[in-house]
Amino acid sequence: MQKQTELLWVEKYRPKKIEEVTGNDEAKVLFIEWLKNKRHTKKAVLLYGPAGVGKTTLVMAAAKEFNFTVIEMNASDTRSEKAINAVAKPATAYKSLDSFSDGTNKSIGNILFLDEVDGIAGNEDRGGVNAILKIVEKSLVPVIMAANDPDIGKLRPLKKVSLLVRFQQVRIPLIIALLQKICLLEHVKAEFEALERIAQNSRGDVRSAINDLQSLSGENHSLTLQDTMMLHSRNKDISIDETLRRYFSTQSIADTSSMLAFSSVDYDDFLLSVADNLPKRYTDTAELARAYEYASQADMFRGRIGTENWHLLKYFFNALAKASAVNPQSYKPFTFITPPIRIITLFWTKNKRNILNNICAKIGEQCHVSVETAKLTFIPYVRLMLQRRRNHPIVSSFKLTPEEVNYIVTMGRY
Ligand SMILES: Nc1ncnc2c1ncn2[C@@H]1O[C@H](COP(=O)(O)OP(=O)(O)OP(=O)(O)O)[C@@H](O)[C@H]1O
Ligand SMILES: [Mg+2]
Repeated sequence: MQKQTELLWVEKYRPKKIEEVTGNDEAKVLFIEWLKNKRHTKKAVLLYGPAGVGKTTLVMAAAKEFNFTVIEMNASDTRSEKAINAVAKPATAYKSLDSFSDGTNKSIGNILFLDEVDGIAGNEDRGGVNAILKIVEKSLVPVIMAANDPDIGKLRPLKKVSLLVRFQQVRIPLIIALLQKICLLEHVKAEFEALERIAQNSRGDVRSAINDLQSLSGENHSLTLQDTMMLHSRNKDISIDETLRRYFSTQSIADTSSMLAFSSVDYDDFLLSVADNLPKRYTDTAELARAYEYASQADMFRGRIGTENWHLLKYFFNALAKASAVNPQSYKPFTFITPPIRIITLFWTKNKRNILNNICAKIGEQCHVSVETAKLTFIPYVRLMLQRRRNHPIVSSFKLTPEEVNYIVTMGRY
């Protein structure tokens, strides 16, 4: 069995009960009321709001508490009408008993859970949205949807037929309290200021706060304010934006160079951001190529500076400034691509989550369990089996790709 310490804390401490889902009390009440009594008013419900605040968790906890069987679909399942119908139609064709749990563990019926529905709006064809609409119209069982951004135009038809439940960032004191509880259970000695900083830095995203807590408290089970200093770079988003604005709008290399010398941005982050934004700044390919040439010179100087050759810094500023001044006349204000740190970490975790979700979907299909159950109760064993024998017969029965096998074998935590 996988060692408990290797579990990702966000999974280990994912609330199992409604009352454990912290914050967003109004949204919780609205949703539970709908699930219990008000399903006749609107057929579907759309939980929307920022990432990591407990939308998915609340649905799973409520289903568990009321003994619903969750039929789950995520964005990748909802790509086409055909895929949707294959899963959702049978699931929604039988009416639940419509009475609440009598204390036995018998399921009182299905609920269809379409998580991350904004994912379907990213697809070109509208088959997905229309198929969901039809399902909602015909469904005899509750249909629950979750999304981050409810303003996506393509979701409009879904919003019309749904009760909208808005989630907000979880308040900092609540996050601190949660982190304290986890520290107690994990025997982590943490300074209060460190927890406060992690919570503030999370901007109300409980998932990222717990992830930060786990990665920063590390092997030695302690956490000081000093340990949280590296989080600071994430907060630089705002100052990077401002520096980018000044960087791209200055008219001379000397001005840009001295502006950079006085700014307090992290140079590596800034360089990455510049590289991200150059294609927006220069539409002419020859100009863009020259700008990248300068940016790569700057990168080279940055590498040489390392931790001691600070006298090379002026060359770094100079090369970087040149990249902004390839053609000052063509400058027009433009909106910047978000600074890189956030993009990279989000992409990285999202990507990881996607691989794991795909694997769990395959296991779920074969074993007739939900993605969530596959993740929590199957993966540790599958991992152990594959670590002993990579070509174990389960590889073919679950139809795992070599990449997925590799992912499972090498995953330290999940
Ligand atoms: N309100 C909360 N109370 C307790 N833990 C939470 C809460 N919100 C999030 N978490 C923690 O963060 C993890 C991720 O939460 P969840 O998957 O519910 O977020 P979400 O709102 O669905 O985010 P996304 O929009 O990215 O899907 C959970 O496993 C849990 O550990
Ligand atoms: Mg979610």
